[in-house]
Amino acid sequence: MNEELNLKQLIEWYITAGVEETAGEVPFAPPPAAEVKATPVRSMAAPRPSESGRQVTTALAQATIDAGKNARELCKTIDNLDELKALVEKFDGCSLKFTASNTVFGDGSQTARVVFIGEAPGADEDRIGRPFVGRSGQLLDKMLAAVGLDRSLCYITNVLPWRPPGNRTPTDSEIAVCLPFLKRQIDIINPDYLFVLGGSAANALLDQQESISRLRGRWLDYKNSAGKNIQVLASFHPAYLLRNPGQKAKVWVDLLRLAKKMSEDGAAGREE
Ligand code: URA
Repeated sequence: MNEELNLKQLIEWYITAGVEETAGEVPFAPPPAAEVKATPVRSMAAPRPSESGRQVTTALAQATIDAGKNARELCKTIDNLDELKALVEKFDGCSLKFTASNTVFGDGSQTARVVFIGEAPGADEDRIGRPFVGRSGQLLDKMLAAVGLDRSLCYITNVLPWRPPGNRTPTDSEIAVCLPFLKRQIDIINPDYLFVLGGSAANALLDQQESISRLRGRWLDYKNSAGKNIQVLASFHPAYLLRNPGQKAKVWVDLLRLAKKMSEDGAAGREE
């Protein structure tokens, strides 16, 4: 294996492990791939892959981490979805990008009154490059149609624009790096409602740790970067419903609550 490949793999392993800073030059070897866990780690000693590569490795790891922290700054300069999409596609600060086949940016109406937010693309989404097009997406489409919501009038996106390998749970640092992209999408679309699918996405967006069973079924608040309050409902993720069809009725109730509020508050779409 050449050294360049070694360094890239090492850095990807750091990011996968959630390392956010390096400290010193303590010898350290990454475990075999099968043992790599996605547990977030806040700080970890720097590795020594080889004498010549050591400083380069440390610098590259730190540069990658810093690039992630820059996402928020980069987003501030963007005020339309096409440019934001191009920015995300160019962004190299999240290692998930290197294992994904496609960047899965949000999709749907740019003037949507409601934004649906999932956790991360799955295998079908990664292959096709659009959010919620696999089995979970088909179930979501059916549920939206059942409460009279037209998917094409909604905007659908994820906390992460890249599929975590094997659909593993995203790490805290992957979420932290990518969250500005989601928040900027919300700022640009400026919806009145957010409907969050699953506990992981809800906790990421609302910055709390409540279980989805406790969060669902009541209106919550999210403030966009301009300070506007957006009403939020969180509910179970369609993938969870595919495994636990007995829970579908609860999501049905939550979607009905959303549809009712939208029709009480006004028309189902906004003019540009
Ligand atoms: N699950 C998600 O959270 N998002 C998708 O886009 C697909 C499945």
